[in-house]
Parts: sequence; C-alpha cells; structure tokens
Amino acid sequence: MANVDGTTGVTVRTYREQDRSRLRGVLARSGEGDPAATSVFGEHDPAVWLDRYADGDPGSFFVAEEDGELLGYLTGCLDTSALPSDSECFERLLRTERLFLRPETALFLGRMAFDSIVDRGKETAKEFDDPRWPSHLHIRLVPEARGKGIGSALMRRWQERLREEGSPGCFLQAMSENTEAIAFFERMGFEHHGRPRIISGFRGRNGERLHLQTMVWSP
Ligand SMILES: CC(C)(COP(=O)(O)OP(=O)(O)OC[C@H]1O[C@@H](n2cnc3c(N)ncnc32)[C@H](O)[C@@H]1OP(=O)(O)O)[C@@H](O)C(=O)NCCC(=O)NCCS
Repeated sequence: MANVDGTTGVTVRTYREQDRSRLRGVLARSGEGDPAATSVFGEHDPAVWLDRYADGDPGSFFVAEEDGELLGYLTGCLDTSALPSDSECFERLLRTERLFLRPETALFLGRMAFDSIVDRGKETAKEFDDPRWPSHLHIRLVPEARGKGIGSALMRRWQERLREEGSPGCFLQAMSENTEAIAFFERMGFEHHGRPRIISGFRGRNGERLHLQTMVWSP
C-alpha cells in the first residue's frame, strides 16, 4: 500500500474481493458531473463497469481508501481484446435481462435509430481498436474526494503497471463535454487521438448531443 502523499491518510492499493459490494456505492455516487443524462445499463452498471474488470483483470483494478472508506477506483485492462466490449455487454443484457423494457434504454435505442439517419455521412464514435494502445482504463472518484491528488495517485499506479507489464500503450475514451476529466487526462500525459466524434443515442442533461474523445498514452 502506498500513501497518496506524506500528509493524508489516503492509500492506493489493488482491488480485493471484499471491495466488490462497497464499490457499488462508489459507482452510484461518482456519476455527479457526468455529461450524459442517463445510464444505458441502469441497474446493471456494476456488472459492466466493475465486475467485468474485477473478474477479467483484477491486478489492474486499483482503489483509493481513507480510514477504511473507499473514495474511488481505477479499472484498468492490459489487453482490451480479452474482455467483453461495451457493445457485447449491451447486446448480452438486451438478450438476457430484456434491457429494452427499461424506459431509459428503450429511449436510447430509439435515439440511436434516429441518430443513425441524421448522422449519415458523419464520423461517429465507435469502439477503439488499435494494437499500439491495447490497454484501457476507467477512473471515478466520489465528488468530495476530487481535486486532492487522489486521481493522479491512482493513475500513476496504473501507469507503473503498464510499464512493468510491458504494455505498448493505453487508451481511454471520455466525453469531450467532460472538460474537467479531459484536463485531468492531459495533465496525466494522455494525448488527444483524433477529433471528438458525435455519439449515437446519448444526450446531455439539456438534450444536447454529446461527443467522444479518444486519448492515448504510451510508456
Ligand atoms: C477526473 C478525476 C478522476 C480526476 O481526479 P482528481 O483526484 O480530481 O484529480 P487530481 O486532484 O489528482 O488532479 C490532477 C491534475 O489534474 C488536473 N485537474 C484535475 N481536475 C481538474 C479540473 N477540474 N480542471 C482542470 N484541471 C484539473 C489538475 O491540473 C491537477 O494537476 P496539478 O497536480 O497541477 O494540480 C475525478 O475528478 C473524477 O472522478 N471525476 C468524475 C468522474 C469522471 O469524470 N471520470 C472520467 C470519466 S472518462
């Protein structure tokens, strides 16, 4: 375990199985500031954003903790092709959990169909697949833990692991409307890869269209 700095009691450590249920609370609380109005996966968010990583690459899953309380996490994945993709998760949940009966998901599917017509000819967001950056990550902190260096401590730990494991590079995808997160990733050495691309189906809190920015980092 490593202290975030010499003065706070925050530690960054690797995920443990006992964290699983408590991380659901962190995920639920860390959506504040998210530009997207609703979640597509709904009550299945923990399966997609936590369990997929805890089961698939637990050594790349880091948590930040203070006095036994979890404040945030970074879910990394060294080899993105080894985990089910977001769209594979979505399709499986549509089939097995009849996700299309959820009103927010039904609305999302309707918007996707509509957007596929209005966005014809535009370069829309898609899942990233480039052997130069096979690894990827997600990071989230509860609101009161932000701006204190905890995100950078989690990221440094992940970047250390990427170096140790010999990964050629790591990508992430963030909504370009999430300007605070983009500024954070830039500060952590990530570079913009291509231009922001419009996302099908998603809407912001005021009904506006949202865009996805891919960013990359190489050790
Ligand atoms: C994005 C997030 C992980 C950053 O973690 P954090 O602990 O708040 O960031 P830190 O305090 O470690 O900041 C590190 C650096 O990033 C930059 N940064 C962080 N937040 C910033 C902001 N709101 N605006 C501008 N720069 C910012 C700072 O320049 C800081 O550099 P410094 O060391 O020179 O001060 C965190 O705010 C968060 O969980 N946000 C909500 C979830 C989210 O948006 N996740 C990403 C989705 S893709």
